[in-house]
Amino acid sequence: MRNIASPKRKLLLAVAAAVLYAASVAGTPAKAAGEQTIETQKWSFSGPFGMFDRGQLQRGFKVYKEVCAACHGLRLLRFRNLGEPGGPEFSSAAVKALAAEAEVQDGPDDEGEMFTRPGRPSDAFVSPFANKNAARAANNGAYPPDLSVMAKARARGPDYIYSLMAGYKETPDDLELAEGMSYNTAFPGHQIAMAAPLDDDAVEYTDGTAPTLENYSKDISAFLMWAAEPKLEERHKLGFRFMIYLIILAGLLYLVKRRVWAGLKH
Ligand code: HEC
Repeated sequence: MRNIASPKRKLLLAVAAAVLYAASVAGTPAKAAGEQTIETQKWSFSGPFGMFDRGQLQRGFKVYKEVCAACHGLRLLRFRNLGEPGGPEFSSAAVKALAAEAEVQDGPDDEGEMFTRPGRPSDAFVSPFANKNAARAANNGAYPPDLSVMAKARARGPDYIYSLMAGYKETPDDLELAEGMSYNTAFPGHQIAMAAPLDDDAVEYTDGTAPTLENYSKDISAFLMWAAEPKLEERHKLGFRFMIYLIILAGLLYLVKRRVWAGLKH
């Protein structure tokens, strides 16, 4: 049995530490640019091996459904996604019931007419407005964007959405807001056409989580992150397995190397 020389061991440790460090910074967001105030939050799903918090996704969906859905669509999501692994994982009965609450346009029927029917799990989420113009007309000329990929479309998505929800602060005295606009410290330019959608006690939580603006903001951000990246958990699990594979492979290669060199005189 030969000893591993200690400098070698040190080198191995240093390489292992570097790999772990690189893996941990990979999930750290960059610093905010400009004057938008974006608060960094701790998310269960961040980092290379992060997973969603099932309860948080379910609460976030409730916030979306009861508040945001009045103005914002989620057209890339289907009701069945709510029951799939890696998401809120609602039971199939719950998914059916949620789908059935939606009025889905279908047709044409035998007479050539379009008609509405209760939604099915395979249907996509129904957007609140028939088209962009209708959406603008109902919102003072501003268009409430579809939120399907919002968490990926904006830099530091979940942190940004959290900060946007919690960023409705008192308007500074020296700022003249345009009509219908609200002051928001996270929005570029600080004037947003969306009035504060959330406040304490806006949505009833049934799992004991405190019904606060803070919690709503976190939960809706996590839910929108899942909506934008439903395969996040699968990806992280694959990454984890790949790391294990690499570690085993490195060990085997090391043993092979020892074997090959064992008979040779140094
Ligand atoms: C009464 C309608 C209404 C409701 C309810 C509403 N919004 Fe909005 N939202 C808007 C409008 C209008 C805009 C466009 C604002 C602008 O461009 O100035 C907007 C913009 C946004 C944006 C995009 C900001 C950007 O960077 O462009 C996000 C994210 C957002 N809303 C999230 C939410 C969430 C989450 C909820 C639910 C908690 C919600 N909204 C509820 C009307 C609404």
